[in-house]
Amino acid sequence: MTPHPTNVTGTPAEALLKVRDLRITFGNSAEVISGVDLAVTPGETLAIVGESGSGKSVTSLAVMGLLGAKGVRIEGAAEFDGQRLNLAHPDSLTGLRGDRMAMIFQEPMTSLNPAFRIGDQIAEAVRCHRDVTEAEARARALDIMRKVGISAPERRMRQYPHELSGGMRQRVMIAMALVNEPALLIADEPTTALDVTIQAQILDLISQLQRDRGMAVVFITHDLGVVAQVAHRVAVMYAGRIAETGTVEQVFNDPQHPYTIGLLGSIPSLTGPRTRLATVPGSVPSPAEMPKGCRFSTRCPFAQPKCAEQPRLRELAAGHRAACHYAPLELSFGTAA
Ligand SMILES: Nc1ncnc2c1ncn2[C@@H]1O[C@H](COP(=O)(O)OP(=O)(O)O)[C@@H](O)[C@H]1O
Ligand code: SF4
Ligand SMILES: [Mg+2]
Repeated sequence: MTPHPTNVTGTPAEALLKVRDLRITFGNSAEVISGVDLAVTPGETLAIVGESGSGKSVTSLAVMGLLGAKGVRIEGAAEFDGQRLNLAHPDSLTGLRGDRMAMIFQEPMTSLNPAFRIGDQIAEAVRCHRDVTEAEARARALDIMRKVGISAPERRMRQYPHELSGGMRQRVMIAMALVNEPALLIADEPTTALDVTIQAQILDLISQLQRDRGMAVVFITHDLGVVAQVAHRVAVMYAGRIAETGTVEQVFNDPQHPYTIGLLGSIPSLTGPRTRLATVPGSVPSPAEMPKGCRFSTRCPFAQPKCAEQPRLRELAAGHRAACHYAPLELSFGTAA
């Protein structure tokens, strides 16, 4: 990981993307996202980690205006490059998406159309947002394909998605996301399905493009090794809320929320051999069975009666926040009733 050029705590004033008090509800069921704040600055990588079902994808889809499900209600304030985003009306984000902000997914076929040649799809992504000729669009497609390490790009342009390997499809999807030089890239588990060699290449590629262009990246992953490798800051999500956030060093070396401590295993370390999330006994409660107060209380080994009240995300050190009544832990445990 390269040091972030500005300040790793990302003061809101310089944030490219700011999200305040995001709340998402599907139909008549309970809220699945309940008051999430996020900020990411140019050149910075924010990792979002958490078990399956924590709300990582729903959060990022809402920010991209891609959560178009019927009956979905999105509340909260968001700003992108000083401009207010109306998350409640995903259509209002159509002009930004694929242009100044782009997203890549675990499964590239989510973004690739199986019926069209690769070159036509990337060129079309250019022509959707830029007033250029067909020839210029194809030249840009070819250029980005080379930059993301696609060999024989002229030949690849004529191929269909099913003719490519998984790793190559992933590169094509990244090329398509980056062809218009977005200021923000949201990557939702983009390497989870790939073998480790390809995964490492893709991570290097994203980091390199980020350095070259000062792009802000929100990187969603299960893999703590990946967080240590690519991220400056990390937000740990649990059941639709942020449990803990801070710099990678703060959260890995000095975790303060019992959930984070559980995920990191008993001996948190930035350099240890552990790369996967450790298993925390139990599972994320469904929105319908969410406990009152601290949502982690059904699994927390330290739960107390007070935990029936919702803990605030409190600042413990500059930029390091945790939502636990008893943080900082080493000072409180043992004395708590
Ligand atoms: N279209 C939907 N309708 C109803 N509930 C949904 C929908 N999409 C996601 N959810 C719920 O939102 C929660 C968060 O899901 P998700 O963001 O996919 O988690 P993650 O990406 O962290 O694994 C889950 O409880 C999931 O069941
Ligand atoms: S508030 Fe209580 S239940 Fe929640 S993480 Fe802290 S100790 Fe555990
Ligand atoms: Mg997901």
